[in-house]
Amino acid sequence: MILKLEHIYKDYIQGKMTVPVLKDVSLYVEEGEYVAIMGPSGSGKSTLMNIIGCLDLPTSGSYELAGSDVLSLNENKLADLRLGTIGFVFQNFQLLPRMSALENVALPLVYAGIRKKVRRERAREALVRVGLEDRTSFNPTQLSGGQKQRVAIARAMVNKPKILLADEPTGALDSRSSAQVMELFQKLNEEGVTVVMITHDPGIAHHAKRIVDIFDGEISEHREAVQ
Ligand SMILES: Nc1ncnc2c1ncn2[C@@H]1O[C@H](COP(=O)(O)OP(=O)(O)O)[C@@H](O)[C@H]1O
Ligand SMILES: [Mg+2]
Repeated sequence: MILKLEHIYKDYIQGKMTVPVLKDVSLYVEEGEYVAIMGPSGSGKSTLMNIIGCLDLPTSGSYELAGSDVLSLNENKLADLRLGTIGFVFQNFQLLPRMSALENVALPLVYAGIRKKVRRERAREALVRVGLEDRTSFNPTQLSGGQKQRVAIARAMVNKPKILLADEPTGALDSRSSAQVMELFQKLNEEGVTVVMITHDPGIAHHAKRIVDIFDGEISEHREAVQ
């Protein structure tokens, strides 16, 4: 089991009010699965993604990621676990505008302490894998939305993480670019990467092998059969 979240609650404090956002969420994902977490806007998807990605902590509950008890780790250990285990993809790409595609993709390798020559080689390989070998020196402003997201996917995968965690990865893309991103996720999953994709879009969710519904901070297994 690569992800094991049990009885997760997340409250936000708003002034004097406590706003419960996740309510007793339990989620189990095996290594190599391709899971979509689907729900409408405001249902708690990004809150859950931030917890799965160790970017935020739950108010209560337990969380095991790749065999580590996340809630018992200190900041440094947590950062190491995150860097080595999870690649992130966001709706708005989160690329650094003044860096080339190659430099953006190489960034996680800087944090991993890899030397420059190797960083550039690996970043180039990652860009080849997403079909952007002819755009390595372009800045994000010189790329289309779909190309930017493919750069972000290359960056997410450059450390060879076990898990690809994506929050609305096609939310800002046209249908053709969305289809390319879904093809890439499929390919990565076939290569053994565990994919956890968050979306409000049933058409996108159906690319996954399993769909989990989230509604008003509670999750349930999808009712329909998935192809
Ligand atoms: N930092 C925060 N402080 C207070 N409330 C928040 C915060 N982040 C999210 N929320 C609230 O939590 C709920 C779920 O938000 P979110 O996880 O972003 O949903 P989704 O990604 O499904 O649209 C919303 O009602 C939102 O207003
Ligand atoms: Mg969201």
